[in-house]
Amino acid sequence: MKIISDIQELRDHLRGQNRASFVPTMGNLHEGHLSLMRLARQHGDPVVASIFVNRLQFGPNDDFDSYPRTMQADIEKLEKEGVYILFAPTERDLYPQPQEYRVDPPQQLGDILEGEFRPGFFKGVCTVVLKLFSCVEPKVAVFGKKDYQQLMIIRQMAKQFALPVSIVPAETIRADDGLALSSRNGYLSVEERAEAPELQRTLQNVRDQVLQLKEANTQSLSEIEKKAVATLTGRGWNPDYIAIRKQSDLAPASNEGLQAGEPLVILTAAKIGQTRLIDNLEI
Ligand code: PAF
Repeated sequence: MKIISDIQELRDHLRGQNRASFVPTMGNLHEGHLSLMRLARQHGDPVVASIFVNRLQFGPNDDFDSYPRTMQADIEKLEKEGVYILFAPTERDLYPQPQEYRVDPPQQLGDILEGEFRPGFFKGVCTVVLKLFSCVEPKVAVFGKKDYQQLMIIRQMAKQFALPVSIVPAETIRADDGLALSSRNGYLSVEERAEAPELQRTLQNVRDQVLQLKEANTQSLSEIEKKAVATLTGRGWNPDYIAIRKQSDLAPASNEGLQAGEPLVILTAAKIGQTRLIDNLEI
């Protein structure tokens, strides 16, 4: 595997390749990331991965400084997956001047859910992803469904800018007990790790109630959301949101939509101790 930090060197290496597939990451790779590499291999060749902890998407109180950086272990994992190039720019390589031009996603997608609790997050994500796309020029890029809203926003960005890249979604990889794999799981204490699968169980419970609602109109969708928040809170979590939304645009779901068979998704973000976890479940 070639490890490249310089944009020009990356371009020189990729010259003439028009079928490259790309997986952008922030490193600290786990089985979830590696499944993205495998999917990327099915969609294009060569596979290019990037590791860059993007300051622009972290808020002042976020974990930018403490975000786990495990470059050597990551390199070994990517080599085993047969990744052709690892693009691992420094901040100086990617942002040689302060990044003043930014991509601002539309409010109705970028400022809700994650965007409400992490202001500027998606602006930072879109800006770096557009820049990484412009460095790698992939035919295909793979993004995990675990970051459901991110996937949707990147898809819309690629569409609206007519970027010559197909965005391929990848299923979430979970531990045996249902916890979605995430670099931030490493922050959990033993007790918190034992409690963490409750997040997905809560979503499954919400899904069951939504499906029952389809049969008999006994409660509203917002009542289901509120009860789920109260249940998690009662178990010691600090939920930011549990939201039943339309898969098409993440707007709030309605009872009429539910009855008409509209595809829905339940999204959540909640803190357990100091660690903020996100997850989702499609209905
Ligand atoms: O999902 C991530 O790891 C990051 O948001 C991404 C897409 C690599 C951009 O920094």
